[in-house]
Amino acid sequence: MEKCGVLIGKTNDELNDVTLCKEKELRELVEKYSQQHIFGHWDKLSKEQKAYLLNQISKIDFELMKRLTEIWIFNTPKPEVFNQIIPIPVISLNSSEDSREKEAYDCGEETLKLSEVGLFMVAGGQGTRLGFDKPKGTFPIGPVTKKSLFQYHAEKIINIQKRYNIELPWYIMVSETNELDTKNFFEQNDYFTLKKSNVIFATQSMVPCLDERGKFMLESPYSIAMNPNGHGGTIQTIIEKGLMEDMENRGIKFLSYFQVDNWAVKVADPRFIGYHVLNNAEMSSKIIRKNSLREAVGVHCICDNEYRVIEYSELDIYPQLLELNPDGSIKFYAGNPAMHIITIGFVKKVYNRFKDFPWHRAHKKIPYIDDSGNLIKPEKPNGYKFETFIFDALRYTSHHPVALEIQREGEYTPIKQLTGENSIESARKSMTKMWAKWLKKSGYNMDEYIAHREHYIEITPVFALTEEEFLKKSRNFNWQIPSTSFAIDEQGNLITT
Ligand code: UD1
Repeated sequence: MEKCGVLIGKTNDELNDVTLCKEKELRELVEKYSQQHIFGHWDKLSKEQKAYLLNQISKIDFELMKRLTEIWIFNTPKPEVFNQIIPIPVISLNSSEDSREKEAYDCGEETLKLSEVGLFMVAGGQGTRLGFDKPKGTFPIGPVTKKSLFQYHAEKIINIQKRYNIELPWYIMVSETNELDTKNFFEQNDYFTLKKSNVIFATQSMVPCLDERGKFMLESPYSIAMNPNGHGGTIQTIIEKGLMEDMENRGIKFLSYFQVDNWAVKVADPRFIGYHVLNNAEMSSKIIRKNSLREAVGVHCICDNEYRVIEYSELDIYPQLLELNPDGSIKFYAGNPAMHIITIGFVKKVYNRFKDFPWHRAHKKIPYIDDSGNLIKPEKPNGYKFETFIFDALRYTSHHPVALEIQREGEYTPIKQLTGENSIESARKSMTKMWAKWLKKSGYNMDEYIAHREHYIEITPVFALTEEEFLKKSRNFNWQIPSTSFAIDEQGNLITT
């Protein structure tokens, strides 16, 4: 509805009137798909609430919901059967002697200098698993500086822009659940000194949750329970929210795709871009060697000659993926750190087939409003959420894409949960360890610091993005390493807490 030109310049009240005019039309639509119960509390709603509900209805893709109901609710879909599942060919870490390594790096740098690369960050989720009800990117991950995840990514961009004398557009996919908070955070922080016109937000679509009979659920008397359509929504968002036009106007040919939750992620990595370009690939992926059979990462593999990523939650369906090599090592080791280079022409290709794009279902506890208007918080799963995954686009590539193995340190430090593996604490420790190594290599004695293991280090990516850059720059400084937590700022000043 917001696309409708006549709405521009109208007050909220007038907007509500326009929406309410559509009541008859939208009621007919809802009835056609047998979801009329969502009007159950209509007579008790205020004008604004009625407009809210109608606006939500107007954005629903009812045909899609019908299809999902038929596939997932009225039938029990059988998992796909594959005759053959084999590991993907990987450019492994050991092949770094490979003569193409330098060629790839140079090619990636050249592509960056030509301003053909844009960044695409998916940030539509909430920090629920962290017990944090704000957008994950706003989490103050820096133990010393309290800088947010967003700020860390922004500081990497500042470094790269300076290094190649370019402007790097940063596309950020948000969802209706966190759009406002995310945009406000960027405003309040003055876009971390980036040019506002180079930070482009786009809001992904929402999908209604379904109960076990295929009915929409009300989360309040005037709103339907919905969730963002998964990071596969990247494809739709780029095309339908005007990003493709923006990319084409800027001459962008490749997207460096990453998740907001990975603190260490190397955005616009020249080596990765270079391998992608040299191989004329459509969508490339980085790979981490799985550290255990059941590690919570997707597995890249080839199923009946099609490139796939099988989610960690589906491993038991395909027990081959849990096989070991004769020497005891993991056969399907190619874990998914969720980093890709995507050619923008490929986005169009996938969009044209988006109707066939696979959906995934999750059985969840979904709070709802009953017929009497009471909020019910179920104790066991009572409905389904539907999502698409970006890695499912890999099956549409016309030849096998690049899969580039990376080391975890300095590239993969995701923040997924409150404690244990991939937690805030483990991320801070892992980044501290990496930065301590940089300092040690620069000739600093870190022994006393290391003895106080509860302390942390932060080095801003504006000062140094890589070890190599740090070693070069650190020659101009003579830091007194304290035995407390400390940070090094953009000018190279050492700051203690
Ligand atoms: C994800 C991958 C997994 C991979 C792991 C690496 C999925 C289904 N699985 O797991 O294969 O090995 O990361 O860290 O993604 N997001 C949106 N919109 C949405 C849903 C999610 O933008 O509708 C974003 C989130 O903000 C987050 C990212 O996608 O940045 C990942 O989502 P999450 O649900 O946290 O996936 P994981 O289970 O961690």
